[in-house]
Amino acid sequence: ERVRVIPSPTRIKSSPEDVLMDKRRRGGIEAAEVVESGMDVGLGTGSTTAWAIAAIGWKLESGELEDIRGVATSLQSHDLARELDIPLTDVDEFESLDVAIDGADQWDPENPHVVKGGGASHAREKLIDEMADRLVVATDDEKQSTPLSHPVPLSVLPESRNVAQSWVKEQGGDPQLRYAEKKDGPLFTANGNLIVDCDFGEIDDIEGRATDLARIPGAQEHGLFVDVVDDVIYGADDGVEHVE
Ligand code: 5RP
Repeated sequence: ERVRVIPSPTRIKSSPEDVLMDKRRRGGIEAAEVVESGMDVGLGTGSTTAWAIAAIGWKLESGELEDIRGVATSLQSHDLARELDIPLTDVDEFESLDVAIDGADQWDPENPHVVKGGGASHAREKLIDEMADRLVVATDDEKQSTPLSHPVPLSVLPESRNVAQSWVKEQGGDPQLRYAEKKDGPLFTANGNLIVDCDFGEIDDIEGRATDLARIPGAQEHGLFVDVVDDVIYGADDGVEHVE
């Protein structure tokens, strides 16, 4: 007779992907703690911020929070917030916001800078994150780097894609046009622009790099968020850490 051996739960290992997702979940949920009743809140984009949005929704439902007005940085965060009955308002109703919670593709533990735009929403994210009196980045410990070295997304007018790429090369970068997931053509942003991911390796002079990217003809917005981060709340192996 054959005996089927069922591994004990302690012997079942989580995959690295599960561990990472768990860190993001913890970082996102903890970040929602900064939201207080009566606040106008920027709602960021991505898998980590989705947990912050979910936590805000749960707190509204339980009555722990009330009178929140959310401003979404993307269609993705707008739809999620709507599903969770978070009241939403248009960005141009405001000149400033109390707080924004947003994700990052890479963050610098020694400086208040991040690279964003992995979800192609960095233009609207920059508008809303800069409007906030306090920007809280919700993230995980695997994305930290000093200096930042992640390729920087640059959104460009479609007709400037070639000139933009040649300017990036002249600035010492390696530009890659971003393709849609199905690889059936370039990815267009919600505003109809293309994305060029610009790899510069380690970015030692971040202000200079941001200025140079902004000068590229046809450039609409780049994903360097310089001197704008107030707090980083990140999931780590041992729980959640908060850098203020
Ligand atoms: C979208 C972004 C995201 O915030 C960034 O890509 C992080 O996403 P995730 O939390 O899924 O890793 O900048 O434009």
